[in-house]
Amino acid sequence: MVMVQSTIKPLISEEQIAARIAEMGRQIREDYSDTNILLVGVLKGAAVFLSDLLRAIDGAVDYDFVAISSYGNGTRTSGVVRILKDLDESPVGRDVLIVEDIVDSGLTLQFLLENMKMHRTASVKVCALLDKVARRVVDVPIDYRGFEVPDVFVVGYGMDYAGLYRNLPYIGVLEQEAGS
Ligand code: IMP
Ligand code: MG
Repeated sequence: MVMVQSTIKPLISEEQIAARIAEMGRQIREDYSDTNILLVGVLKGAAVFLSDLLRAIDGAVDYDFVAISSYGNGTRTSGVVRILKDLDESPVGRDVLIVEDIVDSGLTLQFLLENMKMHRTASVKVCALLDKVARRVVDVPIDYRGFEVPDVFVVGYGMDYAGLYRNLPYIGVLEQEAGS
């Protein structure tokens, strides 16, 4: 029987993540002045990042979550199809900051930005912890970016592979080797 052995190779440490998020939080507050910001996290991957980012932003800030279904990479050109969970509260008149764990093809973000346009928000910006820029299919604006990552599959800090590894406090690269 062939077994698939998974190992995680550390890529971004807990300390590096924390330091970068502290910088991003300060930058966001500086840019938004004293605006009441509405962070909109994309479930489930961005939940961990959002919870740390939230506490790195001083002053008035609230958060909400959306969940969307995706057909996954390559199976459909549209990529993203529908909202599984919409915002709990109206974003009308709010300054919305979309919070993503990682931007890959950009299709998820493009869909969210299109969707957000239908609401009369005061503004919409994007904050992504990771940017896998080599994989981009559609051009999407990223206003705040934590780290650029190479074209590898990352896990940890909220990001999963088959529902595993979200609880790792650091970000690592999933490497699979066939063993016996
Ligand atoms: P996109 O629509 O192709 O940009 O994909 C974005 C979503 O795919 C992210 O929000 C993640 O949920 C997931 N994703 C993309 N790359 C990775 C990865 O390397 N590890 C874990 N999840 C990923
Ligand atoms: Mg995601």
